[in-house]
Amino acid sequence: MNTVDVELGARSYEVRIGGGLIGSAGQLVAPLLRRNRVAVVTDETVAALHLAALTAAFEAEGVAVSSLILPPGEATKGWPQFATCVEWLLQEKIERRDMVVAFGGGVIGDLVGFAAAVLRRGVRFVQIPTTLLAQVDSSVGGKTGINTAQGKNLVGAFHQPSLVLADIAVLETLSRRDFLAGYGEVVKYGLLGDPLFFEWLEVEGSAMAAGDRAARLRAVTRSVEMKAGIVARDETEEGERALLNLGHTFCHALEKTTGYSDRLLHGEGVAIGCALAFELSQRLGLCSQEAPSRVRAHLRAMGMKTDLADIPGDLPGPEALLALMAQDKKVIDGRLRFVLARGIGQAFVAEDVPPEAVLKLLSDAMAG
Ligand code: GLY
Repeated sequence: MNTVDVELGARSYEVRIGGGLIGSAGQLVAPLLRRNRVAVVTDETVAALHLAALTAAFEAEGVAVSSLILPPGEATKGWPQFATCVEWLLQEKIERRDMVVAFGGGVIGDLVGFAAAVLRRGVRFVQIPTTLLAQVDSSVGGKTGINTAQGKNLVGAFHQPSLVLADIAVLETLSRRDFLAGYGEVVKYGLLGDPLFFEWLEVEGSAMAAGDRAARLRAVTRSVEMKAGIVARDETEEGERALLNLGHTFCHALEKTTGYSDRLLHGEGVAIGCALAFELSQRLGLCSQEAPSRVRAHLRAMGMKTDLADIPGDLPGPEALLALMAQDKKVIDGRLRFVLARGIGQAFVAEDVPPEAVLKLLSDAMAG
């Protein structure tokens, strides 16, 4: 088992990463409890696969478990299920000193973390992420929230968990598509700040996707280390944390236009977005041609969606995509902000990116 510390003063916590951690959840969480009970919130998919094991692990330590099982999918991350979750926690008489457990992927982590943030003005919670995307990104760093009719993640709170348990054995129950979508976020870490990690992924990525546990442990650990470092330096995204949005401005526009549907998973959009961000960087004279070529070659070698043409169905024209980007949260005073790169592992936030360059990039990408 590896441990990564997220250093945030009095709100510091550990991320434990290892195979079979669900079986040790009782031992790992019990020292944090002030009474012997936890409220677990999960979804139907995770419950069917893993809830019995998690419950048994808590009960073996004398910790009583009550659980709420929500429907799976992005639609759960909205007001109706948020209300269901908060009211259930109140009915369960969860108090300030109690512990809530978010057991699932990013949807459950964000929703339950937000419920914990507002319940009785804040109760503690543990993240037990069950997807690769949640293990390397959304469970760490305290961003919680829900989607509304106006957009994704527009309502939420920074609320740090008390502990994160990333059990890499549960990744074995993910479909290859879901695994590779999460891998989009793993690659992002190498691209934004660690060229040696990217080089390692170029060599070991295929073994990792095929199930190599040692490779998975190393990749999840390195990703979490990088996220923990960034969050410790910039918890509320005043600066450096924005680098975690590499590829995301393109991704958000693509997700919006594909209706947040099965046509494009978030991590797939991140991968395509990273390839576009490197291409844009090269066109703006910021990095060599080799960098975007390497990014695309690695995504292709992994069998991932790499180009706009890999998204099934029609996309709107470049102007419409650009208009969607201009609505992104990262636009400030109407200026287009992108995370760009001076090379692999050298991302930075670029203000005032010329819209014409983005339009040309998109129309070439669509033609190509
Ligand atoms: N997923 C981006 C962040 O946590 O800041």
